[in-house]
Amino acid sequence: MTDSLHVIIAVINNKGGVGKTTAAVNIAAALATARRRVIVVDLDSQASASVWFGVDRERLKPSSATCLLHGYPARQAIRTTGVPHLDLITGSPELANADLALADVPGRELTLKQSLQGLRQRYELVILDCPPSLSLVTVNALVASDALIVPVPPQHLAVEALTSVLASADRVRTRISSKGRLLGILLTMVDQKRASTSELRERVRAQHRERVFLTEIPESRALEEAPAAGKTIFEFAPRSRARRMRSTAWAAKSSSGSTLAADPRCVAGRPRTLNLGVEQYLPRRFPSRMSLK
Ligand SMILES: Nc1ncnc2c1ncn2[C@@H]1O[C@H](COP(=O)(O)OP(=O)(O)O)[C@@H](O)[C@H]1O
Ligand SMILES: [Mg+2]
Repeated sequence: MTDSLHVIIAVINNKGGVGKTTAAVNIAAALATARRRVIVVDLDSQASASVWFGVDRERLKPSSATCLLHGYPARQAIRTTGVPHLDLITGSPELANADLALADVPGRELTLKQSLQGLRQRYELVILDCPPSLSLVTVNALVASDALIVPVPPQHLAVEALTSVLASADRVRTRISSKGRLLGILLTMVDQKRASTSELRERVRAQHRERVFLTEIPESRALEEAPAAGKTIFEFAPRSRARRMRSTAWAAKSSSGSTLAADPRCVAGRPRTLNLGVEQYLPRRFPSRMSLK
């Protein structure tokens, strides 16, 4: 049984402003260590993750769009970030034209998967920060990924849309036989002071049960301000409650990484209980077992 990951995780939700980029950047930062090299691939035309890591908007090329649309080798588009062991492939405005540009390309849903092949050897974890739409770029991300994290704030419209987000991802998975399975729904921007929070959070938990990470990311000024400072939450506010991102990251690491890699039944797609195996790193509230269906 191997402990190595070599896993691609897509952070998806076709709604904007739900915390995808925030989750992608900080989970990546939480997991980057000397032993675990991590790369964020920014697939959003707004390039928020890239700007967060300090890339000038004038210098976004070569980007994931260059790889996806022009066959540029992904390895040559890699950049380092200020975070040790965490690299980046930038997003760029060109991604907004991907649907049109790829329309006549045979196997257009597989382009990203092929492009990222070379990164699997180099990185233990590849995190895809997806755009806020179920565009061809997101479909490419679903096809390329092994596991999905779906952030959702306890806000009425976002919770209403969650079932359809999951259903769309499932349809793509079935239609194109991609293996990207749901790693977990991540409650983000949880504002305890808002009256509707408890009810909406409980609704998500009742409906999606063990598919929801027990760890929640609170609404936090530090997380709101960290992008402008160009810092991850661990650099910007190491004592903030928002660094709970780390426990989500551990869950992502263990369940999609060692277990997915080691347990062939996961690939076959049968319901099962995954042993997270890194309980010692998790806060007590975190489940030691998580069932993924
Ligand atoms: N937990 C949080 N607390 C406060 N603000 C947050 C939190 N998560 C995200 N934000 C802010 O909300 C906005 C949208 O988040 P973002 O991660 O960019 O969403 P998405 O990628 O889904 O569009 C950003 O301004 C971000 O800084
Ligand atoms: Mg985003």
